[in-house]
Amino acid sequence: MEENRIPRHVAVILDGNGRWAKAKGLPRTFGHLKGCTNLESLCDDVKELGIPYLTVYAFSTENWKRSRHEVEWLMKLFRNYLRRCKKIAERNDMRVSVIGDISAFDEDMQKIIRDLEEFSRGFKTLYFQLALNYGSRDEMLRAIRGFAEDVKDGKRLPGELDEELFSDYLDTRGVPDPDLMIRTSGEQRLSNFLMWQMAYAEFYFTDVAWPDFDMAELKKAVDWFGNRERRYGGVKEKG
Ligand code: IPE
Ligand code: IPE
Ligand code: MG
Repeated sequence: MEENRIPRHVAVILDGNGRWAKAKGLPRTFGHLKGCTNLESLCDDVKELGIPYLTVYAFSTENWKRSRHEVEWLMKLFRNYLRRCKKIAERNDMRVSVIGDISAFDEDMQKIIRDLEEFSRGFKTLYFQLALNYGSRDEMLRAIRGFAEDVKDGKRLPGELDEELFSDYLDTRGVPDPDLMIRTSGEQRLSNFLMWQMAYAEFYFTDVAWPDFDMAELKKAVDWFGNRERRYGGVKEKG
């Protein structure tokens, strides 16, 4: 099992910013600020461990339900983060791709995203997907609509659709499925994250809040993964 010790693709649900701040008597927004800084370190740490793919869930299709104040704060943070991200991409030789329905964002933010993706297209050591306004159900519906359009236009036949072709219609096209999923801060659910892609991911849950999740915590998750039995579907052999 030696070849499986380092995961190829780590997916992270960064959770607990609000509770982390509340426990310190601070506003939730301060937790998001800390969480955002921590996201920068995560990319550096993942690169240092030699993991080639990283996906981070930063804003879900359900997160619009939060207060207007919190949503506006988050949008401001994302805008600033995405601007800084060119530097992070450069220093880590990291390609950045945003997954999710970005058409919901202001035009200027969409432009920042497109610029960043274009700027980092040639970087090869780490492939970083940032999930913004992402929901797995929404992604699958958009994929099905895209496929249906292609059938209507005579480019595809309904019977052609198999797992591989369906994956090509998803936002994550071309990226291998995550093999390790980490969720911080105690909740043990997927919250609409990569449900198609994580059919066989190992799930690691920790009570540590996202702003406190550092390199030492990441190593714990990766070590835990290294000890998992990664044969699935078929017969589990002893030894
Ligand atoms: C994660 O922290 C960040 C986002 C979902 C944007 P939360 O904001 O969910 O923090 P908790 O879970 O309420 O503590
Ligand atoms: C999941 O966290 C979404 C993101 C991390 C972006 P939430 O805090 O929004 O999820 P729930 O509400 O606990 O399911
Ligand atoms: Mg939460």
